[in-house]
Amino acid sequence: MTNPAAALDAQEALIAAARAARALAYAPYSRFAVGAAVLDEQGRIHAGCNVENAAYPQGWCAETSALAALVAAGGRRVLAVAVCAVAAEPVTPCGGCRQKIREFAADDCPIYVADAHTLVASFTLGQLLPCSFGPAHLARP
Ligand code: THU
Repeated sequence: MTNPAAALDAQEALIAAARAARALAYAPYSRFAVGAAVLDEQGRIHAGCNVENAAYPQGWCAETSALAALVAAGGRRVLAVAVCAVAAEPVTPCGGCRQKIREFAADDCPIYVADAHTLVASFTLGQLLPCSFGPAHLARP
């Protein structure tokens, strides 16, 4: 995307989708609601929230939900990610979710971190998951 105004619109739409998904989070145990959204190769946005479980380890993150929505819609590339949560510090994807994002995204994929009101931090996937393992490593030499 070369038009800066359009890029800003896309970023805002992605954050808005993550924020809207956060409002639907099922987090009765941690009470820590998270929303996430991913932009696919067709310009579509897929969003999801965290879904907790009475058997605590069975819960999953908002980013995982958003990626599942991407794949179920036929998306195969992630061009940008937004995460929305309210905390004392910017909430970046957990380690497991960083790897899950890595499956579909390049090192330069932006990861926007927002709170209830605004963008609070911005990273690339490569910053959050350096020297990562990915699909290309499974190619037979
Ligand atoms: N969580 C997410 O959904 N995404 C993150 O990036 C960090 C953590 C969820 C998992 C759990 O439901 C709650 O936040 C507290 O860890």
